[in-house]
Amino acid sequence: MIQHLPVAELRRRFPRDFVWGVATSAFQIEGAARADGKGLSIWDEFCRVPGAIADGGNGDIACDHYHRWEADLDLIADLGVTAYRFSISWPRVQPNGSGEVNARGLAFYERLVDGLLARGIQPYATLYHWDLPAELQRRDGGWLSRDTAYRFADYAQIVMRRLGDRVVSIATHNEPWVSAVLGYERGVFAPGVQDRRVAYQASHHLLLSHGLALKAMRASGTKAELGIVLNMSPVYPATDSELDVDEARLEDGRLIRWYTDPIFKGQYPADILDHLGADAPLIHSGDAEIIAQHCDFLGINYYHPTESSSSNPAAPATRGARVTDMGWEVAPNRLTDLLMRLHRDYRLPPIFITENGAAYRDSLVDGRVEDELRRQYIESHVLAMAEAMEQGVNAKGYFVWSLLDNFEWAQGYSKRFGIVHVDYETQHRTLKRSAEWYRSLMRSAE
Ligand code: FCB
Repeated sequence: MIQHLPVAELRRRFPRDFVWGVATSAFQIEGAARADGKGLSIWDEFCRVPGAIADGGNGDIACDHYHRWEADLDLIADLGVTAYRFSISWPRVQPNGSGEVNARGLAFYERLVDGLLARGIQPYATLYHWDLPAELQRRDGGWLSRDTAYRFADYAQIVMRRLGDRVVSIATHNEPWVSAVLGYERGVFAPGVQDRRVAYQASHHLLLSHGLALKAMRASGTKAELGIVLNMSPVYPATDSELDVDEARLEDGRLIRWYTDPIFKGQYPADILDHLGADAPLIHSGDAEIIAQHCDFLGINYYHPTESSSSNPAAPATRGARVTDMGWEVAPNRLTDLLMRLHRDYRLPPIFITENGAAYRDSLVDGRVEDELRRQYIESHVLAMAEAMEQGVNAKGYFVWSLLDNFEWAQGYSKRFGIVHVDYETQHRTLKRSAEWYRSLMRSAE
């Protein structure tokens, strides 16, 4: 049941200093794949693999944000949000992933951050949203190599030295599960490797790199809040049968506990280590302490729950459920449950919902996009978050995914998540109804 609330009433359920934002990522919007000395990323290369991207799309132009950033920041300011979450492209800053720094690439992010601050919008940066410098993949197998974790910490320091005095928040990684499992086990995302052992070794190096980067950035004395963003699609068994319940427990371990346990409890979950057997990663002594560095915040990306059965451990929807254009179940109550469960099971720092949103088949008619389903999706999830907060969850902010329609990874441009419509022929932006609603939610507090 979708509830409809007057915006002022919804807004009143949140503290005055609650952070409201919109989110994007570098590869999905910037384009300018080779501009100003940028190196190629594994996604630039993956898009060239025949059949890898549903509509044959790539990131060469995307939303051309690299050239249109000022107008895009004006758009964000017009929404009246507090914050903007964006990611930094590692190969734009360090074309080969190590060594030489590309001053022009770094200057782009400096302009972006200063442009946000000039408009009164808080910059929330993410260091890694999947666009690994291709050179690191070619040379060392990317995240399979322990050395990549150390290169990442160097890159974090480079960014920190330049922007650490101005950004409000820095997340090391966006969704390491996606980097590891979709990239190195299932091979449906860059770099397209299909090997479970490699994937779990990669996941360990991703987590290690998170800890190393936190240490390096903290040592710089920054005031920015430092943390990580994890994807969470809480898992439910399809039936009460022992098989399904066991499968759900395993999937929960692979998807959620494999990341939250080492970061917040200092160790990998024993049941998943057992389950992996010979595919479990090689872990050096001391790694656990590095990974369990203090985080100032935890970012949670929530879209849908997972249904697990012995025949399909990870279905993104229950049979017959309402789904978005991605086939993802719409279940705001599962967000409340997820937040309550994390609150119970871990001693967490303040949390942010760093992504939440929905793809629908929009149509632009007479200059308008009436995306009522997306508006309802956002409203119902904001409400679900309020309910968790009223039960004790310490949530500090919420970011809609996404500001703009953009390159949706293996789905290319065929799925639209924006609250702002992008005409890819003309690069014209049109606020959708959902964006107008979000703006009215922002204004309701004035
Ligand atoms: C998340 C990603 C984001 C976007 C949404 C739909 O997993 O972090 O880039 O693709 O899904």
